[in-house]
Amino acid sequence: MNKVRLGIVGLGNIGRYHAEYLQAGKVSRCELVAVADAYTPSLEKYKHLKTFEKSEDLIHSGLIDALVIATPHFLHTTIGIDALENGLHIMVEKPISAHKADAERLIAVAKKHSKQVFGGMFQLRVEPRYVKLKRLIQNGDLGRLVRINWIITDWFRTEAYYGSSSWRATWKGEGGGVLLNQCLHQLDILQWLCGMPSMVRGFCKIGRYHDIEVEDDVTCYMEWDKDITGVFISSTGEAPGTNRLEICGTRGKVVLENNKLTFIRLESDMIEFSKTSKSPFAKPEVWNIEIPFETIPNTHSILMQNFVDAILDGTPLIAPGEDGMGSVELANAFVFSSLINQPIKLPMDALAWEKKLQQLIAESKHQKKVVQVASDDFTKSFNR
Ligand SMILES: NC(=O)c1ccc[n+]([C@@H]2O[C@H](COP(=O)([O-])OP(=O)(O)OC[C@H]3O[C@@H](n4cnc5c(N)ncnc54)[C@H](O)[C@@H]3O)[C@@H](O)[C@H]2O)c1
Repeated sequence: MNKVRLGIVGLGNIGRYHAEYLQAGKVSRCELVAVADAYTPSLEKYKHLKTFEKSEDLIHSGLIDALVIATPHFLHTTIGIDALENGLHIMVEKPISAHKADAERLIAVAKKHSKQVFGGMFQLRVEPRYVKLKRLIQNGDLGRLVRINWIITDWFRTEAYYGSSSWRATWKGEGGGVLLNQCLHQLDILQWLCGMPSMVRGFCKIGRYHDIEVEDDVTCYMEWDKDITGVFISSTGEAPGTNRLEICGTRGKVVLENNKLTFIRLESDMIEFSKTSKSPFAKPEVWNIEIPFETIPNTHSILMQNFVDAILDGTPLIAPGEDGMGSVELANAFVFSSLINQPIKLPMDALAWEKKLQQLIAESKHQKKVVQVASDDFTKSFNR
């Protein structure tokens, strides 16, 4: 094979975005040949390709080698498994599944079909600011990590956003709120940079700012082995909001905020300094270093190119689908901990959360009012 024949299922915000850059030739050795969407008017624009209303018809068509899954979250698992079992490579949108037990099911099938490529659309992993941050941590420049704080409250969303489609912000349609939807990329980056915490305690507010049944305001405490603590705060109701990631180690701290990456480097290890200094109020000397980084457009297409290269050449994936487990688990555990009012040790009990989620779905009395709105430029939401 010297070219990948690609299909997309789900032609909403992100599915159409993928189709656009693929058709503009931004990914080499790859051709978008077919699409599927359950809502037939969405197919109108793609009459020059093969179109299907059902994912299974696209999967069984014999027309494609690989499938991009861009439907609402719950379908990622079922469509992903169907595609893998029918010989296709898959690129799954985030989250890879709506909850951890489903993610385990998808990963188990992907393991059985290990010759097929399973990618996750975690495009923040190619952004230079996060790549540099990771290098800084891996090189030991921060010393031993001690604290990780991420305040990401600039996800402001209106009632019109939540009313724009039936699946959004419902237990049944989405399986969660701001954590599983808006914050999933940050949760992926958090565990990609720092590993998974060993314990979390969530405090989530359900519908604090919006008429929704899932969380739209979150404060979570996290503990890692090796004596690292942290806090993750998010909201879709606060304006103007903040996006500040601060990672502290014994040799300094790094802050990513307002499109600036600053490394405040300690000249000596703070623990050593504390033990050896004779002065009660002395502090280690600091050097402020601004780390330059590029802002690159089309991060989705870079990840898609990597997926195609993995299929054709065996290039290692930047975001293997299995890695998508970490962010799903964090999103689930923060909410679960909040609902049961207790800390949760990780790895969490996936089946216990699935059972709780099913109970929330069964007992839901929330009446969702769906109002069609004029489409807005949703790509503005990528920029953070
Ligand atoms: N990586 C990113 O930057 C990014 C950005 C936005 C959304 N997403 C993810 O992509 C997914 C879709 O989000 P969206 O905002 O595009 O949603 P959306 O509601 O705009 O689009 C979903 C599409 O799926 C279609 N669909 C629903 N059920 C289907 C079925 N059974 N078969 C075929 N098509 C079906 C709908 O008709 C709709 O066109 C979500 O999981 C979301 O988290 C990722």
